[in-house]
Amino acid sequence: MGVLEPAAMKIAAGRPGTLLGKILVRSGPHGFWWMRFGQTAFGLAVGLLTGFEAWATRVDLQRAQHHYQTACAVCHGPTGRYDPTLPGVKTLDPKPADLSDPLFNSREPAGDWFMVIKHGGAPMGFSASMPAFRDAFTDAEIAELVAYLKTLPGPHRYPPGELNYFRPLRTKKAWLEDEVVLLSRFARHDRNGDDVVTTALEFGKRWLARWQTELKLAQEFEGAHGDWDEFEAGVKYALYDNLEHTFLLSGGTDLAFALRGDARMEFIPYLAAAKGLGEAFTLQASVKSHLPPEDASAGDVELAAMVHWLPTPWPRGIFPGVELTATAPFEPGNRDALRWTVVPQLNFGLSRRGHVRAAAGVEVPLNDRTYDFRLHFYLLWDFADGMFWEGWRRGRSLVHTEYE
Ligand code: HEC
Repeated sequence: MGVLEPAAMKIAAGRPGTLLGKILVRSGPHGFWWMRFGQTAFGLAVGLLTGFEAWATRVDLQRAQHHYQTACAVCHGPTGRYDPTLPGVKTLDPKPADLSDPLFNSREPAGDWFMVIKHGGAPMGFSASMPAFRDAFTDAEIAELVAYLKTLPGPHRYPPGELNYFRPLRTKKAWLEDEVVLLSRFARHDRNGDDVVTTALEFGKRWLARWQTELKLAQEFEGAHGDWDEFEAGVKYALYDNLEHTFLLSGGTDLAFALRGDARMEFIPYLAAAKGLGEAFTLQASVKSHLPPEDASAGDVELAAMVHWLPTPWPRGIFPGVELTATAPFEPGNRDALRWTVVPQLNFGLSRRGHVRAAAGVEVPLNDRTYDFRLHFYLLWDFADGMFWEGWRRGRSLVHTEYE
């Protein structure tokens, strides 16, 4: 592969100030202050001095391609897909994933790849056969390498993994991913003054480029009685994504079936959005409606928004956030009964890979106090990133390479 194909060049160069900016910005503890003060100044200065086009060429993909061919292709293959016949590859276990596969490539955020290339596979819970390149390349060169890797699949319709933010406790998540989530909720003095404990298991799976289906089964304990409560099935589609503006919008609908009492059914259509706020904060928001077909006036509209703070680029860590919800019932005569709640919470990256996470928070009703408070908890496993038990410890190498 001599020169970068024009199409690939366009993808990388078409997003100056975003892709590279994001990569540089997420490059480590320095990236954060550098970002806050630096990005605007840097963007302005560069824009004024050299012009947009010239800046785009500073993302030197030719150089990155050269670095890739000399330092990475032995294991990852000249096109991003490893060549099993190469001697260096035969001994690798696990084998590297196909970097030119658009699903895999789009799902992995550029910032995570930056970390893996800089610090090596081991500290990120991957195989230690993936060497660390912090001594071989500067941060800017690594960022260029990542920008180059992102061009390997060519043009595609998969939404970017950079917009896959932490799952909130109440806000509907806009991103699509493969995940299994165990959810639990404890409501103090809820219906009839009893404490209610709800436990649910949720399964989400991506299909094609922009679809996801979700299945959820919930069980409820009220007082001393436990019962299957609800079954939900849903489908979601990524309507729009824009990495430059760090924005993603998806829409979908869930269908909920009550499993006890007078078997009710409910449509729950929703819109959900994700938006980056600078580099250290993310915003997620959703609007959804509960629509019981037999009695629409019993439904409601629920708005929810969540801000997370990401103080570190390492996936393992504690990430605080706060969520606000507002629910308006359709009931005639009850239109001004807007119910507000606030949900301070913590998200915990448990595995080194960050593919197993937990979150816990307390939901406090601000005006309508039909319950005292609710404790929310979940444990989430993103199964596209490996088995549940993989990626917790420092990755170990089965082979010794010249790079170690
Ligand atoms: C000695 C072989 C070897 C070399 C050289 C090598 N890699 Fe890797 N790389 C691996 C292996 C093996 C993995 C998979 C680790 C795992 O899945 O546990 C990997 C994983 C990765 C990943 C993470 C993919 C993911 O799962 O998210 C990226 C990105 C990557 N390599 C980029 C590079 C780049 C860029 C270079 C060159 C600068 C490079 N690698 C050089 C072996 C190598």
